[in-house]
Amino acid sequence: MVGTGREGRGTNPEEGGAPFSLLGMAKTRTRFSCTECGNDTPRWQGQCPACQAWNSLVEEVVPKASRRADGLPGVVTRTTGAPPVRLRDVRGGQGARWSSGLGEFDFVLGGGIVPGSVVLVGGEPGIGKSTILLQVAAQLEAAEHSTLYVSGEESAMQVKLRADRLGPAAGDVLTYAETELESILARASELAPAVLLIDSIQTVYTPDLEGAPGNVGQVRECAARLQRFAKETGTAVFLVGHVTKGGGIAGPKTLEHIVDTVLYFEGTGSLDHRVLRATKNRFGGVDEIGVFEMTAVGLVPVANPSALFLSDRSEARSGSSVVATMEGTRPLLVEVQALAARASYGAPQRVTTGFDHKRLALLLAVLEKRAGISFAQLDVFLNVVGGLRIVETAGDAAVAAALASSVYDRPVPPDAVIIGELGLGGELRSVGQLERRLSEAARMGFRVAYISPKARPAKLPSGLRVVETQDVRALIGSLFP
Ligand code: TYD
Ligand code: MG
Repeated sequence: MVGTGREGRGTNPEEGGAPFSLLGMAKTRTRFSCTECGNDTPRWQGQCPACQAWNSLVEEVVPKASRRADGLPGVVTRTTGAPPVRLRDVRGGQGARWSSGLGEFDFVLGGGIVPGSVVLVGGEPGIGKSTILLQVAAQLEAAEHSTLYVSGEESAMQVKLRADRLGPAAGDVLTYAETELESILARASELAPAVLLIDSIQTVYTPDLEGAPGNVGQVRECAARLQRFAKETGTAVFLVGHVTKGGGIAGPKTLEHIVDTVLYFEGTGSLDHRVLRATKNRFGGVDEIGVFEMTAVGLVPVANPSALFLSDRSEARSGSSVVATMEGTRPLLVEVQALAARASYGAPQRVTTGFDHKRLALLLAVLEKRAGISFAQLDVFLNVVGGLRIVETAGDAAVAAALASSVYDRPVPPDAVIIGELGLGGELRSVGQLERRLSEAARMGFRVAYISPKARPAKLPSGLRVVETQDVRALIGSLFP
């Protein structure tokens, strides 16, 4: 009973009909709803008959029609669930969070696990989603919070093999190899665990829908029911979600709307570190990150991330610069590398990793117009070290410095950190939270910071001097006298 596999686009869903209604059972009715225009059709079609969008129909359960006392359809007269309450009478609060036993994990969640919350943990295969959830489950068990780890991808034996590496505490975790949602919910109601972990949401299915596990309709419906379960019972639910090639969590964006918190694992295959980032959080700040290292005994929090990302920067090389970025509320020092090389033929290339392509084009134009450095004949490669991404405009000046450094083949002073946004006029603009960025730079042994004159904070961390630079021309002039 794992569906008919018709989530594959272009198959004919009309064949086979509804298998359950043949048994004369009261089957939940389903319909296909267009994700573009909201139109409903009883059958799957490749194109929405209303708005003509292709491949936009998703299967969903038809809500039971409400009936009035006289049996006629109408406005709901029956009430379900808990009655409305005054906010001051609602129990719980900040103190009601549970610690996962992993400080970095709690930090990213905004201070621990909130009972009744649903957290989606996304990331590429092999990045450590199952590992971290098993570690969290083990720590929770050790702290006397009961857990149920539902594994749809691995057998109990395979989960045990992983658990053995994580130490003795993981032995207490209750595992359940099941993929049918109804069985999972029945077990969870019976055992009433404090935390329910589902690995992964793409393997869970409900027979109420005809699609195979992992298709958009199934993922959405299962997540919505798990969410209801969490809210009704106060169980905290963790969902593992796979990431598609495009970088989204497989299946629907709507999954991110259903859950309370979305955590993404980032990292590069070549390095052992993993960055866990909150991209949505109803109970804490977004863009908070936790840095972990994958070791033989699972994921270990990294106490000093800046040191990790700067560790391979030993000698002064041209094309490298350092910026102090903010990741949520924490400052992080990041190295930017640029390489400008003569283009051999055709249009010169612009290749970036961890930096916005369009922003690079903008910075190249600013450098050309405002600092007189031409890139017309040069291929440009830009890399943010350690698989990190710079999304803040505070990285502009450092990127420009790295580019100029590569063109001149002269290194940026190794004890310099460069912080600021570049305007189209080439002016250096101030950025938020400068004091925090500067103290992190000072802590990591940097001696000089290049900043906008408007940004100068009242108090400077000891050991750090600032150079106020008006614009990109002045910046390059003082970096490469
Ligand atoms: P896993 O948690 O299975 O990834 P996901 O669930 O996101 O697909 O991570 C598996 C990888 O981690 C695998 O390459 C082995 C490695 N690993 C360790 O290095 N140390 C460990 O203690 C564990 C459990 C896994
Ligand atoms: Mg896994």
